[in-house]
Amino acid sequence: MEIQISASLDCANYLALLEDVRKLERGGVDMLHIDIMDGVFVPNFALGTNLMRKLRPQTRLLFDVHLMVANPEPHILLFAELGADMITIHVETVTRLHQLVTTIRRLGKRVGIALSPSTPPDGLSYLLPYVDMVLIMTVDPGFVGQKFIPEVIPKVERVRKMIEGQGLAVDIEVDGGISEQTVPLLKRAGANIFVAGTSSIFSGKEDIEKATSSFRRFCREC
Ligand code: DX5
Ligand code: ZN
Repeated sequence: MEIQISASLDCANYLALLEDVRKLERGGVDMLHIDIMDGVFVPNFALGTNLMRKLRPQTRLLFDVHLMVANPEPHILLFAELGADMITIHVETVTRLHQLVTTIRRLGKRVGIALSPSTPPDGLSYLLPYVDMVLIMTVDPGFVGQKFIPEVIPKVERVRKMIEGQGLAVDIEVDGGISEQTVPLLKRAGANIFVAGTSSIFSGKEDIEKATSSFRRFCREC
């Protein structure tokens, strides 16, 4: 699977967002990870529709939209129209999962299913042929800057085995506390898309453009 990094926009500088996006482009980022939070599924609010509307004409980077909302179903068409390239829904929030992932694909979008750290993957085997990505949260969803939960690593390994067992090419994205310390372990377990946030390119220690190209290289070479 191709190794990619997706920059967590919620970790960027809101007051100079477009400048940060340009730095990410120059640094060679693969995608923009757009966290949408509704204050219900997670006890926080983040990003939103107007931001996507304004940003879409400004960049050709892929929009990797992570919906942390209690009831995503009625809003899928809206996010598709706002220019999402990939739409990821949390399995904990949807009762008609097969129906919804099929709808997202029919809209011409890539589709991801996200699992919070407490969600076991085993019952989801039947869905793998219908999705492009499994997003495995390595922190509880809702806040940037949290501590990585190492106990989730075996789940990454388990999901990669489930995918390979069916002869599929589904991406595994990991999100939360992704750093040079955690990437090698997650990559070995089978993850191939890394959400880059405050633990890496937005640490504030290094220029974003340089940090992006060196973190991407690290992820590909480690
Ligand atoms: C957590 C968010 C993450 C977070 C990742 O709910 O989905 O995208 O911003 O960044 P850090 O590196 O701060 O964990
Ligand atoms: Zn996210």
